[in-house]
Amino acid sequence: MSLQQQLTDLFAPAFAAEGVDPSFGAVAVSQRPELADYQCNGALGAAKAAGRNPRALAEAVLGRVDAPDLIASLDIAGPGFINITVVDAALAAVADSMAGSDRLDVDAVSEPSTVIVDYGGPNMSKALHVGHLRAAIIGESVKRLFRFLGHETIGDIHMGDWGMPMGQLIVELQDRRPELVYFDAGYDVEANGPYPTESPVTLDDLSEMYPVITQRCAEDPEVAERARVATFELQNGRAGYLALWQHFHDVSVTEQRKDFEALGVEFDLWYGESTVRDRLEPMVQRALAAGVARESDGAVVVDVTRPEDKKELPPLLLTRSDGSYLYSTTDLATIEMRVQDMGMDLGLYVVDARQGLHLEQVFRAARIMGILPDDAGVEHIAFGTVNGKDGKPFKTREGGVLRLADLIALVTDAARARLDEANIAEGYPPQEREEIARQVGVAALKFGDLSNHRTSNYIFDLERFSAFEGKTGPYLQYSAVRIKSILRKASDGGLEARDIVAPTVAQERDLMLRLARLPETINRAADLRAPNVLAEYAYEVATDFSRFYEHCHILSEPDSVRQASWLRLVSLTLDVLTRLLDLLGIEIPDRM
Ligand code: ARG
Repeated sequence: MSLQQQLTDLFAPAFAAEGVDPSFGAVAVSQRPELADYQCNGALGAAKAAGRNPRALAEAVLGRVDAPDLIASLDIAGPGFINITVVDAALAAVADSMAGSDRLDVDAVSEPSTVIVDYGGPNMSKALHVGHLRAAIIGESVKRLFRFLGHETIGDIHMGDWGMPMGQLIVELQDRRPELVYFDAGYDVEANGPYPTESPVTLDDLSEMYPVITQRCAEDPEVAERARVATFELQNGRAGYLALWQHFHDVSVTEQRKDFEALGVEFDLWYGESTVRDRLEPMVQRALAAGVARESDGAVVVDVTRPEDKKELPPLLLTRSDGSYLYSTTDLATIEMRVQDMGMDLGLYVVDARQGLHLEQVFRAARIMGILPDDAGVEHIAFGTVNGKDGKPFKTREGGVLRLADLIALVTDAARARLDEANIAEGYPPQEREEIARQVGVAALKFGDLSNHRTSNYIFDLERFSAFEGKTGPYLQYSAVRIKSILRKASDGGLEARDIVAPTVAQERDLMLRLARLPETINRAADLRAPNVLAEYAYEVATDFSRFYEHCHILSEPDSVRQASWLRLVSLTLDVLTRLLDLLGIEIPDRM
């Protein structure tokens, strides 16, 4: 049990014994670390609720807390804040217990939920670019966090692969290469053999075609109409289009997989909108039959606005007037699939904040249509944009959108330059050095992102992100690698770690106290769905460690009990950093 929980478990009954709600006994980290380790502010609220004097109530509570093994001192500050200082030996025992636990004493949830993290979400036929970065990085971290807490967690990429862009690409290709068999409506697989196995296009072709055809559709209603028809026919199973779509799909996925892999982003499921294609029609029919959807100018809509809405929400479109399905339709059918086939309790949608209205409509409609049961939840885990130094969405110097692959190359180059500059990983085999540069580059990128609260926009500042000093990914990696090297040296010198004993140096105590906060920190990050809580804490752990290491000369310490205790503390610090970085999706090189 965490230290904070142990303290809360002492204070809650003390408040209860005073006749107020035990929840007032909640203990928190001290806001004034120079005064105390923890604090309990419940007396103020409790006194208000009970019409009593807060200081007097705090006094009474103190009289009921008796735990000399755990609490070194208690005092009341201001109107009734209780300051708590923990016994050194108890602090050491907490650290020692963490060091002996696989999970670092972070409890797994007692009732695991099935959590589906919907993230990444690229549209098919597009090369990944900087716009996909945050969904991938934040989603990966949220997924790892829930999984670590013991939930049955499934990451699904939910590709955009069944909407209008598909019809548009079909039309564009038809205009360029009308002779392809896919466009021959009379093509007979029985008589003429199967469609070719080789794709007629590469992902580069598709990426080039996509802006061309969207432009054409915008300018020419006739082209737009053909794209609509092609989309409808694809969705209704026209064989040649389906065969072509499969090629689009396969070339996209092959390329996108590589980019995600380079980023260390791993999906459990590569499902997409198309996965639920057979559910669309019955779902719409059911909604119409149940009277929760209605026809409107040939289209089918669901009204989702509520009387209390300040601004009326537009109805959700289930089908267009030509019968084709939309982004909302596939999102709804996907919820249905996740609930029915996967037992989803919680769906976390890591999606750009600008899609807030879309998701709100979908989530509401899902309840109205009876797709999402009352005991299941869905949430939009929104994020802001990556901006350039001009404060506008990040672009290349030429004003284009930066491809993810190029971005990864860019950060790797920056990392390599920093390694050279600082003489890090000098003289290593070139292959290892290159791998370190990639790991450091990706860490710079990810930490640069994850250290901001997800809803804020941030400025992409490669210089700052890739520095080995300050709140950066490379600094944290370097801290962890340094600890590995200390432990290696100790082990080479025949030194062994043993029980963590009571701290004798302030910096040592600070480090223990910091490490003891791991369980709450991880839970808080999960509750807020906010990886930046982990990023912030990882940085604090690293800086506390660095101060500790400056003051405690482990390898030359004459007192062997102290030395052995320090070694175990060092190793615990490494385990904590490793866990945190893993939850952020950041790898640690073995050495550098
Ligand atoms: N494909 C969408 C896009 O590119 C993102 C998908 C997000 N997930 C979802 N279930 N809507 O904007």
